[in-house]
Amino acid sequence: MPREILVTSALPYANGRIHLGHVVEHVQSDIWVRAMRMAGNTVHYVCADDAHGTSIMLRAEKEGITPETLIGNVWKEHTADLRDFGVAYDHYSSTHTDANRKLTYRIWRALEQNGHVESKPVKQLFDPERQMFLPDRFIKGECPVCHSKDQYGDACEVCGSTYNPIDLINPYSVVSGAKPVEKQSLHFFVKLADFEGLLKTWLEERRAAGGLQAEVVNKLKEWFADGLRSWDVSRDAPYFGFEIPGQPGKYFYVWVDAPVGYLAAFKELCEGGSKSGLAAADFERFIRAGSDTEMVHFIGKDIIYFHTLFWPAMLHGAGLRMPTAVNVHGFLTVDGAKMSKSRGTFVNARTYLDHLDADYLRYYLASMLGPTLADIDLDLKAFEERVNSHLVGKWANIASRCAGFVHKLFDGKLAATLPETVHARYDAAAAKLEACAALYELRDYAAAIRLIIEVADEANAYVADHAPWVMARDESKRDELHIVLTLALNYFRLLTIWLAPIVPATAARAFAFMDDTPADFEAALRPLLGHAIKPFQTLVTRIEPKNVEAMIEASKESLAMNPTQGSPSPLPSPTNGRAGKNAAPESHTMNDTSVPSKPSSSSSETISIDDFAKLDLRVGKVLVCEAVDGSDKLLRFELDAGELGKRQIFSGIKAAYTDPGKLAGRNVVFIANLAPRKMRFGVSEGMILSAGSGGADLFLLDADDGALPGAPVK
Ligand code: 2FM
Ligand code: ZN
Repeated sequence: MPREILVTSALPYANGRIHLGHVVEHVQSDIWVRAMRMAGNTVHYVCADDAHGTSIMLRAEKEGITPETLIGNVWKEHTADLRDFGVAYDHYSSTHTDANRKLTYRIWRALEQNGHVESKPVKQLFDPERQMFLPDRFIKGECPVCHSKDQYGDACEVCGSTYNPIDLINPYSVVSGAKPVEKQSLHFFVKLADFEGLLKTWLEERRAAGGLQAEVVNKLKEWFADGLRSWDVSRDAPYFGFEIPGQPGKYFYVWVDAPVGYLAAFKELCEGGSKSGLAAADFERFIRAGSDTEMVHFIGKDIIYFHTLFWPAMLHGAGLRMPTAVNVHGFLTVDGAKMSKSRGTFVNARTYLDHLDADYLRYYLASMLGPTLADIDLDLKAFEERVNSHLVGKWANIASRCAGFVHKLFDGKLAATLPETVHARYDAAAAKLEACAALYELRDYAAAIRLIIEVADEANAYVADHAPWVMARDESKRDELHIVLTLALNYFRLLTIWLAPIVPATAARAFAFMDDTPADFEAALRPLLGHAIKPFQTLVTRIEPKNVEAMIEASKESLAMNPTQGSPSPLPSPTNGRAGKNAAPESHTMNDTSVPSKPSSSSSETISIDDFAKLDLRVGKVLVCEAVDGSDKLLRFELDAGELGKRQIFSGIKAAYTDPGKLAGRNVVFIANLAPRKMRFGVSEGMILSAGSGGADLFLLDADDGALPGAPVK
């Protein structure tokens, strides 16, 4: 049965640039939308800029422009960046719209009427100079636990403690430098406890239906165990947002009208004319409780709380439908580490696009994306190798090796029929790839790609076995050659149909070459026969390492010129919310728009001997070393670590050691006190050291004879 689904990606804050962390999410959801459409469903896909909050207000002020001008400029940049990554929204709005104001008010009034709102005085730190209450991240001071200076109001980046801003020693306002004072003000709250039973039922039901991942449900259960406190939804003026009706000087906290923005964007789409095939009434049909449509949100793991507690509670409390699914992904790391401005791995979307094709990254990310919350690593070497090997070497190669002969010898036409055995071969491949539809729906794009590449390998083996370039020299084999070319090009078309959600622009070029417009996955069931194709033109070119290097260099430059992510503001708190969270430990802060952490230290900075002493380096003797099924990069080691027992460690050095079994018996050096890391393949209990720049250029460290397993390395 075809389904009708509203899909959203988290709304990017309107005060920072789109970077590769955002791209993961928008590409993940865009692939899903395209695949669900190709499977025959009706999908509406909307997003918007998240335009409210203290950060945006202060940034506009520093730039000497109105917040409206600021968010207008950022909107243009965001929409261009996302469009150029192939993310095809039906509508991309802003939360600062009339539609959103009205809808926020409608939901708020219903919450009030249904008795879910309360008000009480709250004591908060106030900047007496700037005359404003300070969100936690706009207060800094000395950590009350470890006494590090210049720590944020909610958490210490040095010792990791979380605390109340009132506990900071010598606090100061990040906005004016003034010493904050405590001040009381009336706040409005949504009584979350009213929804506890409902939320528990919702989450069990959603988990059973596949709408919530097990990890998310476990997290939620922890929060339930702590008890659901009322949610503070108001902020005092000055604030850039929607004023609370009937409460002059009180504004809705940005996280109230942000998710409402999903629905307001959809409302605009419905009311925006016939192009979408929707009308005003469709909006009401969609949002009413019990609607048989679906609402699916894609988000990062830092904002689970908002989407699985506050948002469903708000909707239900206002008598509306709840989300069908909240699909959560992990953070992006680059070369195994948090994106770093100093290393040039904090890459803005536009900087990437200036150097590389969007579909390359879409392909690589898809090959790494599964249905879990695991972080996604952009390993730059693997990125280059995989795109070159899969898209250029395995996919485009099928067409480039065959198309010329079709034009030269068969007038550009494919054979009109295929002998039964050849047809059966096509049917088997098509049947095999049908499994991708379910994998797409489950967001297991990595598994879909594995299957697609398996069939590509089969197709390449077929071409190699039949060697059309040899056959073409023998006139007596014309008919046979025609069949070979026709099957090969149909393999190519089949692969393209299943790859289309991932690499839409590249697939569109391929379909133009085939002079074909397959509308859905069903088109893959039948081969294209007796059909004229167009002359072959390059569909995809190899990634050159120099382009990747240039992108990294440019990222260093653009950030050096502009350390606050596009803002000339001297504010010490750059304001692109997702940036800092990207590789940060999972959190559910309820602060205002949050702030990226400081750039990580460059290699030229020195550390103290105490820092070095924190590392427990040991000698390990390799007991087992083997390739990991399903990973291009990893080797699995079992080490004899002497007094520490046995250790399992996954190490990304596969490209450098093609015969891993041979490593058994030798010594390596590893970090023994690294927090164990749960990976898709098992738990990794440490890190093995190697020298070199990555990829094949990696060399394990050894210890001279005599060093025993477990011996400390100092
Ligand atoms: O974390 C963020 O980047 C927020 N701007 C996401 C908002 S999503 C939604 F709820 F609107
Ligand atoms: Zn501390």
